[in-house]
Amino acid sequence: MKKIIIIDGGPRKTFNTASMLQKIAEGATSVSDQIEVQTVRLYDLQYRGCMSCMACKLKGRASNICKFRDALTPVLDEVAQADGLVLGSPIYFSEVTAQLRALLERLIFPWLSYNDYSLTAPKQMPVILTYTMNANQQQAQMVYQSMAIIENCLERAMGNVEHVDAHNTYQVLNYDRYELAGFPEPMKRQYRDEHWEQDLQRAYDAGRRMAQKIIAS
Ligand SMILES: Cc1cc2nc3c(=O)[nH]c(=O)nc-3n(C[C@H](O)[C@H](O)[C@H](O)COP(=O)(O)O)c2cc1C
Repeated sequence: MKKIIIIDGGPRKTFNTASMLQKIAEGATSVSDQIEVQTVRLYDLQYRGCMSCMACKLKGRASNICKFRDALTPVLDEVAQADGLVLGSPIYFSEVTAQLRALLERLIFPWLSYNDYSLTAPKQMPVILTYTMNANQQQAQMVYQSMAIIENCLERAMGNVEHVDAHNTYQVLNYDRYELAGFPEPMKRQYRDEHWEQDLQRAYDAGRRMAQKIIAS
């Protein structure tokens, strides 16, 4: 069996990010019964970001897997052995959520050599990044700039990184119940009617492409 780990970095179990990730999973598993998908919901776990313990850089005992032990440890171990990695998050203040950020610190810092600045993941694998956000594609440039360093590290260490994002998402089901005048519902509804099904389809297709790459490798 080949394994794809899907990391859901959002708090809402049925909204935009979870829906996109679900479609990626469906696309991936539609390719072959040799593809297994495991979804990890970060908000169900209690863990910390990098503790700066430097245990991963100890002389003679350097490790490219985080040595700090908490509820994230099994997740990081699974990622190290996986065949594909999907990271999903709503965008909060132009970045991924604090939970996903904390995982990324713990994932990437051990890859980084402070001797020669090389980045070495335990294993290379295809990566999909899924961000969902209020921003339209133009406004999203700020998000991509905020995430550029992390994404560059992922690409250098893991290999191919693909984006499948959803812009201008519905933030609530009923806009009448909330103070959200800055996001007029008719504008949101029109965008959703024109894009949401396509976004889900792109997520499904990205899942299929990832699975096909893994099977072919
Ligand atoms: C705390 C918070 C901060 C947010 N900041 C941004 C932001 O900076 N840019 C943006 O485009 N959307 C922002 N949003 C909107 C969410 O990214 C968007 O609604 C997303 O699709 C929610 O994902 P979910 O439905 O999976 O929870 C923010 C939402 C919250 C709750």
